[in-house]
Amino acid sequence: MVPPPRRPLRRRAMTGSEAAMPHSAILNVMIKAAYRAGKSLKRDLGEIENLQVSLKGPRNFVTAADRRAEEIVYQELAKARPDYGFLGEEGGARPGADKSHRWIVDPLDGTTNFLHGIPQFAVSIALERQGTIVAALTYNPANDELFVAERGKGAFLNDRRIRVAARQRLAEAVVGCGLPHFGRGDLALGRRETEAAQQHFAGLRRFGAATLDLAWIAAGRLDAYWERDLSPWDLAAGSLIVREAGGFVSDCDGGDDILQKGEIVAGNDTMHRELLRLLKAAGKEAVKP
Ligand code: IPD
Ligand code: CA
Ligand code: CA
Repeated sequence: MVPPPRRPLRRRAMTGSEAAMPHSAILNVMIKAAYRAGKSLKRDLGEIENLQVSLKGPRNFVTAADRRAEEIVYQELAKARPDYGFLGEEGGARPGADKSHRWIVDPLDGTTNFLHGIPQFAVSIALERQGTIVAALTYNPANDELFVAERGKGAFLNDRRIRVAARQRLAEAVVGCGLPHFGRGDLALGRRETEAAQQHFAGLRRFGAATLDLAWIAAGRLDAYWERDLSPWDLAAGSLIVREAGGFVSDCDGGDDILQKGEIVAGNDTMHRELLRLLKAAGKEAVKP
């Protein structure tokens, strides 16, 4: 029996511009799946010492909690849309009869945080239609924060419309990032890029869950963010949520190949442009003989 979602899916009356459009049927399906997976993750968080953990690669952990959450999301989405394709971090691709629709799912983003009891992790679900992300969700069950967006309908946090921060000066801005580590990414380039960020921004943050880093850009908590060596499930939902919150996203060269290249730069117009400029300069430095 699926427990009722904690929060009614229909929302309290909102006023003026914060009043959100009713969620579409497809977003309601995604929210139900995320709540169910979130409940399972919270249960596993309480029994972390008994959780089966294995390594997928250097410093890249997977737990029974990741796999359980993915199966729950898959079952819920497949029940509602049996013909849609499914790409999940743990189970890989499950093709569907309907080739124009695909779910892109990270059942537990921030597994290392989760294993350490750090409450910064999320379930992330995106719906891709003919190569374009049209609906997105990132849900942190630890603090019950639900970030959603639908193409052309804006972005919301727990039913309240969100927008990227308006800061224009780097010296007042906080930038988030992901850092390369042993066996993953270019350590020298990473050092150059963080050095440049430390010299120009008011603060640098490494929170350890890419999907939430992007959701926090959309909510105006972080002013800018960049990361490389990511996978489609780390990026799909967050890229739509940032765009629908009035933000800009691109790959690290300013192009649109975010999912293909596995990298992202995000922020408001000024922050996005300035961070791209800093990364480009750091890249040139990194290759100097
Ligand atoms: C990881 C997190 C982390 C990022 C890694 C991702 P996972 O996702 O998003 O912040 O730096 O590259 O793999 O493995 O916990 O789902
Ligand atoms: Ca992830
Ligand atoms: Ca994951």
